[in-house]
Amino acid sequence: MEGQDNFIINGLAGKRILEGQLAVKGAKNAALKVLASTFLFKNSLSVSNVPAIRDVEQMFDLLTELGVTVTPTNFGEYNLDPSGDLHSVINQDISKHLRASVVLAGPILARTGQVVFPHPGGCVIGARPIDFFLEGFKKMGAVVENGEDQYAIKVPEGKLKGAELFFKNPSVTGTETFMMAAVLAEGQTVIKNAALEPEIVMLGQFLNQSGAQINGLGTTTITISGGELLDGQNGVCQIMPDRIEAGSFLLLAALAGRDLEITNIEVNHLDALIHSLILAGVKMEIKESAIRICEPQPVFNSLDIKTHEYPGFPTDLQAPLAVFLTQVKGQSYIFETIFEGRLNYLETLNQMGAKARIIDVHRAMIDGPTALSGREVSSPDLRAGLAYVLAAIIASGQSIVHNVHYIDRGYEEIEKRLSQVGVDIERIIL
Ligand code: EPZ
Repeated sequence: MEGQDNFIINGLAGKRILEGQLAVKGAKNAALKVLASTFLFKNSLSVSNVPAIRDVEQMFDLLTELGVTVTPTNFGEYNLDPSGDLHSVINQDISKHLRASVVLAGPILARTGQVVFPHPGGCVIGARPIDFFLEGFKKMGAVVENGEDQYAIKVPEGKLKGAELFFKNPSVTGTETFMMAAVLAEGQTVIKNAALEPEIVMLGQFLNQSGAQINGLGTTTITISGGELLDGQNGVCQIMPDRIEAGSFLLLAALAGRDLEITNIEVNHLDALIHSLILAGVKMEIKESAIRICEPQPVFNSLDIKTHEYPGFPTDLQAPLAVFLTQVKGQSYIFETIFEGRLNYLETLNQMGAKARIIDVHRAMIDGPTALSGREVSSPDLRAGLAYVLAAIIASGQSIVHNVHYIDRGYEEIEKRLSQVGVDIERIIL
């Protein structure tokens, strides 16, 4: 752990004292894809409300190396110019840590007729195959060479061809990649069993505003008519609020808020969580773009949660929700249907005092309420890392959270923002 960032958190021992406002930043998983779309443009585009997080920095590094000029214009605002010489080999070292790098492959292939990339990395949350991508590129007329540690993809005819694609599971990055690739392909592409996540809708709307012809956004069939390079001068792309950050803050408010308001949110994107919290007995004041929680001494009911593609319960909120479930009365169930291996963090919660039982790679049971106590823990990935922070906040005593670099991938200056509402948290280098 030497020389790495860690959080020291002094827990509230069950006290509900957090108050004030927590403002949600721009969505990681929306920003990364809009940045990747730069390859579809003939001129520069402007993006605002971009979160200052590690994954975004890495995407900027990838783009810069590929020939895009990235210029910060204001806080959270950037101008991206793809009008210089563009390259098509995606940096191996960065991609190995960033799943979103695979999304770049679509626009690069569509623009330059070739792309080379390694098997993408990202959070360790189970198998992260890319078979949908390789199959889809082939269907659009590309030839895939599978090297030892990288894929080299070429379009012999120079231009991708429209195709009909069907995803076995609705894939978020798959839908985004092919929606973007199809914008510059010849003819029409139809994506069936497409994912419906709001980040995909936002990306598609921005591309349409810039001249693309994408229909069916937010439905399971997306149709794209290929055309020319897009025009970035038709308006700024404002990144939507991060619904996973919003959801995690809401759970924190339910657990430890005296009077905590989560602001700058898109309430409609949080239906699944809000519905579950209401079932659990959490009382919320829902405003237009904020939710306030102020409950003196609540007793929450147990829940039976199944993660699902949007608009179902998001897999990315499953770990933060589990922390909440340690504090509800009775037995709760979690059924993680999207990824295998996304329940292992429960072992650590048990070491903090939780009573969770992993039934198999997809299912777990949690008995509550149980008091948690502070411990030294190590973030296994971004979302479980944040769940440990939540657990440490409500626990008694001190916790040290290692591997904070995972948390920094997706949450902007989280310790500063949490301190402002009353959390005793400090970043230290050990
Ligand atoms: C996106 O991952 C997000 N990442 C993840 O966010 C999120 O957990 C996930 O969607 C589900 O919502 C980004 O947007 C960068 P999928 P993605 O393809 O696109 C299977 C976070 O913490 N599949 O929608 O990689 C796959 O195994 C992260 O921010 C294949 O079989 O997920 C899974 O079972 C982590 N073959 C299902 O599809 C493929 O080629 C859905 O995964 C691709 C996917």
